[in-house]
Amino acid sequence: MQNNSLNKKAKSWSGRFSEPVAELVKKYTASVSFDKRLAEVDIQGSLAHAKMLNAQGIISSADIRAIEKGLKEILAEINADKFEWLLDLEDVHLNIEKRLTDKIGDAGKRLHTGRSRNDQVATDVRLWLRGVSDEVLLGITKLQTSILDLAEQHFDTIMPGFTHLQVAQPVTLGHHLMAYYEMLKRDAERFADSRKRINRLPLGAAALAGTSYPINREMVAKTLGFDAVCENSLDAVSDRDFAIEFTAAASVLMMHLSRFSEELILWMSPRFAFIDIADRFTTGSSIMPQKKNPDVPELVRGKTGRVYGNLTALLTLMKGQPLAYNKDNQEDKEPLFDTADTLLVTLAIYADMLRGITVNIENMRKAALEGFATATDLADYLVKKGLPFRDAHEVVALAVKFAAKKGCDLADLSLIDLQKFSKLIAQDVYQVLTLEGSVASRNHLGGTAPAQVKKSIQRARKFISK
Ligand code: ARG
Repeated sequence: MQNNSLNKKAKSWSGRFSEPVAELVKKYTASVSFDKRLAEVDIQGSLAHAKMLNAQGIISSADIRAIEKGLKEILAEINADKFEWLLDLEDVHLNIEKRLTDKIGDAGKRLHTGRSRNDQVATDVRLWLRGVSDEVLLGITKLQTSILDLAEQHFDTIMPGFTHLQVAQPVTLGHHLMAYYEMLKRDAERFADSRKRINRLPLGAAALAGTSYPINREMVAKTLGFDAVCENSLDAVSDRDFAIEFTAAASVLMMHLSRFSEELILWMSPRFAFIDIADRFTTGSSIMPQKKNPDVPELVRGKTGRVYGNLTALLTLMKGQPLAYNKDNQEDKEPLFDTADTLLVTLAIYADMLRGITVNIENMRKAALEGFATATDLADYLVKKGLPFRDAHEVVALAVKFAAKKGCDLADLSLIDLQKFSKLIAQDVYQVLTLEGSVASRNHLGGTAPAQVKKSIQRARKFISK
């Protein structure tokens, strides 16, 4: 048996073991294939830690100079794809530490003073997720801008508003689109809020109990831009609630985009023919030459399932774990990385796709005329003339039945015909029976009137430019 200190492949923790780790176990337990993605933040964290160790007199100035130089070179090697990642070295942390030690000798071995991979990895994930959160927030703003641009073009385009997917009342397309702006605004709030809890420093917690070295956690927090330090060492190395929160916010955002997608898919179907999506976002069928499929919204709808899956994975991973760190937590990375990747690309493609949408204004209007969408307006008209609402409801129901039998819209009925249902109806009724009259009358904060849509777009533009 080779002496561990002579065995180049020996694990950095292998001193107490009498046989090497089985090959399959090595593969099973290693995380380097995916956590190498954390290399940059890992180095960032190490630099801050080393700077503090030196400031506290725990390592020498010669050591810190060597560590800084070595880590910088390693980062350059990684960025140039010249770094050799070794499965034998388990994870990103040990790979980098080993390379550093190879480069600078004992100073490299001193870097890990007062630190454990447990607080190191928790710090890395937080640093990484903080950056992703900022990218997500930017992606949301860009998508919102696309929505606002489309809503502005169609602030007075009339379409049927649906409840139960049945024509209910006319609305403006601008108003409909602004509903999604509002959803995304809340999504942004959720990400900004979870970022606050992501942005706290675990380092200093060491393995679980803290360290006996005279460390300065506040200094490390400040160097790394954390708002605060995690105030309990056991909690700091153990909980991944911040990652769960992020993934929960991602799930809600994907749920919103999935709903939006479902509508775009319906609207593009020839049965609706409300919109067309630019060819570059659609695909054809290999067998049916006439087909043009809305693949992008369909995939957004589909990928929502995968993000929910990641949320379930993380919640289940955390459930039942005793304090403090357990290897289970290594499983936090892939669902988290996948969530970030899915979310960021979805936001980008969606913003782009909305710019490739053309609206068939005529078809939307025709559909709004089809379902007696102004029936409520007639009832409200009668109420304003003194009829109790329930009676007005009944009068209109009879008028609708009559028009349906005739095969026309309410607005197509003559005044004589309409007056058969109520003597209160006069010539001015046609103002409320038109689609334009109907939408224009809902002129209050949150209503569908074109004037209100314009105002809401203005408010939104001001808000997102802040
Ligand atoms: N690769 C590990 C992870 O991702 C790093 C922490 C390992 N800590 C330990 N005590 N084995 O969680």
